[in-house]
Amino acid sequence: MHDIIEQLEKKRAAARLGGGEKRIAAQHSKGKLTARERLELLLDEGTFEEWDMFVEHRCHDFGMQDNKIPGDGVVTGYGMINGRLVFVYSQDFTVFGGALSEAHAEKICKVMDQAMKVGAPVIGLNDSGGARIQEGVASLGGYAEVFQRNVMASGVVPQISMIMGPSAGGAVYSPAMTDFIFMVKDSSYMFVTGPEVVKTVTHEEVTSEELGGATTHTTKSGVADLAFDNDVDALLMLRRFYNYLPLNNREKAPVRPSHDPADRIDLSLDTLVPDNPNKPYDIKELIVKCADDGEFFELQPGYAQNIVIGFCRMEGQTVGVVANQPLVLAGCLDIKSSIKAARFVRFCDAFNIPIVTYVDVPGFMPGTSQEFGGIIKHGAKLLYAYAECTVPKITVITRKAYGGAYDVMASKHLRGDVNFAWPNAEIAVMGAKGAVEIIFREEKSDPAKLAAREAEYKAKFANPFVAGARGFIDDVIQPHETRKRICRSLVMLRNKKVENPWRKHGNIPL
Ligand code: COA
Repeated sequence: MHDIIEQLEKKRAAARLGGGEKRIAAQHSKGKLTARERLELLLDEGTFEEWDMFVEHRCHDFGMQDNKIPGDGVVTGYGMINGRLVFVYSQDFTVFGGALSEAHAEKICKVMDQAMKVGAPVIGLNDSGGARIQEGVASLGGYAEVFQRNVMASGVVPQISMIMGPSAGGAVYSPAMTDFIFMVKDSSYMFVTGPEVVKTVTHEEVTSEELGGATTHTTKSGVADLAFDNDVDALLMLRRFYNYLPLNNREKAPVRPSHDPADRIDLSLDTLVPDNPNKPYDIKELIVKCADDGEFFELQPGYAQNIVIGFCRMEGQTVGVVANQPLVLAGCLDIKSSIKAARFVRFCDAFNIPIVTYVDVPGFMPGTSQEFGGIIKHGAKLLYAYAECTVPKITVITRKAYGGAYDVMASKHLRGDVNFAWPNAEIAVMGAKGAVEIIFREEKSDPAKLAAREAEYKAKFANPFVAGARGFIDDVIQPHETRKRICRSLVMLRNKKVENPWRKHGNIPL
């Protein structure tokens, strides 16, 4: 018996060594941690339960039959993050470059299947050279098995991808279907075809970093949600992020009690909006001042900055925040910002997270590039997402809510539960100047007359009371009491239940 136990320990030690000391050193020399070191940082100490440590590939071609490494390039299992269950897989670049074989894929599928049965999130730490080239179609089949599970798990358990090395070709499409993609700067990249293929096909010269690095995907493509400086930073932030999420679509996010009073007022908010309606201000100031302890976990901060999305807590409860940002493009909605916000709204809706929307929007962005790019379809995504959404929706109009954009931004008509406006809000079809130039076109040559008309229009419509008179706004509130009013509304809405009619699925404009 003693021998057998010793043998087991030896087998375990061999598996833990992955691709061996030399390749581990190579991994470290690139500033990267190994698959196991990463899991140690991500999970609560001593909670990792590893599965399938002894799985090996079944390839007999190209000498692979003599080259087997237990675990086959991915460490899988489950553990805890701040005491809450999570399923994990961590690809081991020291073993065949973390390339995905049929057996490797089976290990990932096993944790995904179990996560679905027990209702817990899946986090994938990706570091892989892609499909295991020696295995051919068996490995491609493995990918597709993972993809199918990603789709089935979508909206059932949260799925998070952390890209910590290469992710190329077919490998990108599993992360692409997860809810959030995070990347590590300078050591990770994602692309469908690499620089060599790009050069051959389009004659463009581009580095891996330029084509698919963390900066590219968090500022240009919008594929990734956040970029972190290094592995340690990335994994510690991932632990923080995890605390905002529920385990599955039947549970609510965990409540973290706070000493920050729900009825805290903030007088500085009374002067946040400048008197000049064309002067910008930073909407993040409002978000932070209304949040518990001033904490806001922003997502996609470097992409489509005219809209801000992220999580905060209010009275301890996770809240998804969507806010127009007057500092960028005057807060206009355009293609990128509509898509960014729509996907976030749908995540919150799928996982029972109430949404607070701060509105200061002068309308949709005009121009040929927007129209040719399909703003009609893409803007409709945000409209669709808000309209379909059944979680508590609280809206605060801080200044402008013009035109179709007024409707889109969680208006009463799209089943907004509580719609507030600040006293200086302007809820109208468009700004007064543009409006009178259309209605009183014949007076165009008389600037004095036009100015009088503009003043008249402003007095009549550039306020929240016209909408208030119709009940489209539930109350006009003082800016300083915004947090208090939102918190109260959230308590009132805690047991909200609305069900959409049965259907196989809707047909969101894509
Ligand atoms: N299948 C099988 N083995 C792979 C692999 C793959 N897809 N990708 C990498 N490897 C192996 C390498 O052969 C190497 O093995 P070795 O240590 O025994 O020599 C090891 O993984 C490390 O790869 P290496 O190329 O030395 O690392 P790198 O950091 O210089 O480059 C990549 C990383 C991913 C850019 C490079 O390995 C690569 O281009 N891989 C192929 C990518 C691809 O075309 N995948 C298929 C399409 S999805």
